[in-house]
Amino acid sequence: MIHELTSPLTTHLVNTLRDSQSDALRFRQIVKTLAVLLAEAALGEEALQERFLLTWQGEKRFRLFDESELLFVTVLRAGLPMLEAMADLFPKAEAGFLAIKRDEKTHESKLYYDRVPDCRGKHLILVDPMVATGGSLIDAMQLLKGRGARQITSLNIIGAPEGLNLIARKFPQLDIYIAKIDEGLNENKYIVPGLGDAGDREYNTFE
Ligand code: PRP
Ligand code: URA
Repeated sequence: MIHELTSPLTTHLVNTLRDSQSDALRFRQIVKTLAVLLAEAALGEEALQERFLLTWQGEKRFRLFDESELLFVTVLRAGLPMLEAMADLFPKAEAGFLAIKRDEKTHESKLYYDRVPDCRGKHLILVDPMVATGGSLIDAMQLLKGRGARQITSLNIIGAPEGLNLIARKFPQLDIYIAKIDEGLNENKYIVPGLGDAGDREYNTFE
């Protein structure tokens, strides 16, 4: 199921990413903040677990997420700031990395690095800012879905209906939390209005 965030703060942040005057530092900071807002939407009440904490008034029971059950997997390179934000938010969570690159001519995605730890019993959360054709997320799902995670969620910032609909058909169980669904893809399979190439904007590579 696809869940689109609707808050004015999310709208403001997504549209600030679209502003070509937002430099790489600002861009990465906003991507990180949006990752936190997406995590807030995705991590439900039911995941909170009662635990004894040693507080200043002695042992008391409180509800917290079990961070060690969380496994965040990112797609290099545009997903890196989102992973950083999640690692800061949940320091006991594990992290995994996939490198998937879209071919600029065929627009097909190609996986060339897989460094994802044991997924068994984990809540695996994929983080990647863009879903355009959906090829990268489909590759990631095909690779990871048989690895024993008890739940898989995807956090994304901007998506095109073309890619999102394809993914929803292929993986109906996947919950996608996304900040904004845009109009569509252009002839080069870039999202419009979109924000350009997220990896380039984050790391100043415009050649
Ligand atoms: C971007 C983005 C996604 C992919 C989405 O990565 O981070 O992984 O495009 O496009 P798709 O839905 O058509 O597969 P890109 O391939 O541009 O690599 P980069 O992060 O290194 O810039
Ligand atoms: N990848 C991006 O970074 N931007 C797009 O619009 C499409 C794919």
